[in-house]
Amino acid sequence: MKPRVLVAAPLVGDAVERLRAIAEVEQAPHVLGRAELLARIEGVAGLVALLVHRVDGQLLARAPSLRVVGNHAVGVDNVDLAACAARGVVVTNTPGVLTEATADLAFALLLDAARRVTEGDRLVRSGAWRGWEPTAHLGRRVHGATLGIVGFGRIGRAVAARARGFSLRVLYASRSAAPPDVEAALGATRVSLDTLLAEADFVSLHAPLDASTRGLLGAPELARMRRGAVLVNTARGALVDEDALVAALRAGHLVAGLDVYREEPAVPAALRALPNVVLAPHVGSADVPTRAAMATLACEGVAAVLEGRAPPHPV
Ligand code: GLV
Repeated sequence: MKPRVLVAAPLVGDAVERLRAIAEVEQAPHVLGRAELLARIEGVAGLVALLVHRVDGQLLARAPSLRVVGNHAVGVDNVDLAACAARGVVVTNTPGVLTEATADLAFALLLDAARRVTEGDRLVRSGAWRGWEPTAHLGRRVHGATLGIVGFGRIGRAVAARARGFSLRVLYASRSAAPPDVEAALGATRVSLDTLLAEADFVSLHAPLDASTRGLLGAPELARMRRGAVLVNTARGALVDEDALVAALRAGHLVAGLDVYREEPAVPAALRALPNVVLAPHVGSADVPTRAAMATLACEGVAAVLEGRAPPHPV
């Protein structure tokens, strides 16, 4: 009998079709909610999950036959890795394939927040635009400014590569130093987080969310940033104290471009009411080739484990 696989959302491309060769696949017609996922998980050997799906002790307890979770994301903060390990459930993720798309979006948010593109869009649509004025709608200069990158893995480095085109000075803060040839090629200098926050005109977050990075930027860190600096977050909302960020934005101390939030899809009304923040709906990886590649990796992770092969990206 073929093992059962649950694909918890419609995916881009035909990766699920290939899974059907080796498994009895249930393909969800929409992104499953928590109750729907729990109701379908019994008897499942392989789960293709999204970052919105919490894979925790409660879910695992309902799925004693679960052998593998193919997480359709590079971040695995939605998965209780210790609980999975304790039950021998393999977890795989999708690194590498979303690097460029996420770096593109970080730059889109940086440019938008700096030059107030979305704010201008709202002005034009409202009919209140009075025409070209030398002193109106002034933004921040990007060219030649200082960019601070927090977390210098694949995505942080891809952001640094883009920064060269804007003649940005690049600082980075990271647990470990990048090899000297990488630093030289990207023109990036490692500094402490404190120095980065004090010197950067733009701060872009690219660290994974785990116990050591939750709340990395709290009120004291945000206060350390330069007045008028732009914070870009395409990583995870919980890296930042969202209440402290709202306060810093409200005070006019900072500007921000955000793709991620503490409790998605809830975005605090206080944040939504502020003009000096660009709010994207967690779309860092949202281009077609990227999403197709993520689907392929997530399904391949499940297929590999069910067939007794080594999965491409075990966590
Ligand atoms: C997206 O946020 C991911 O972790 O893949």
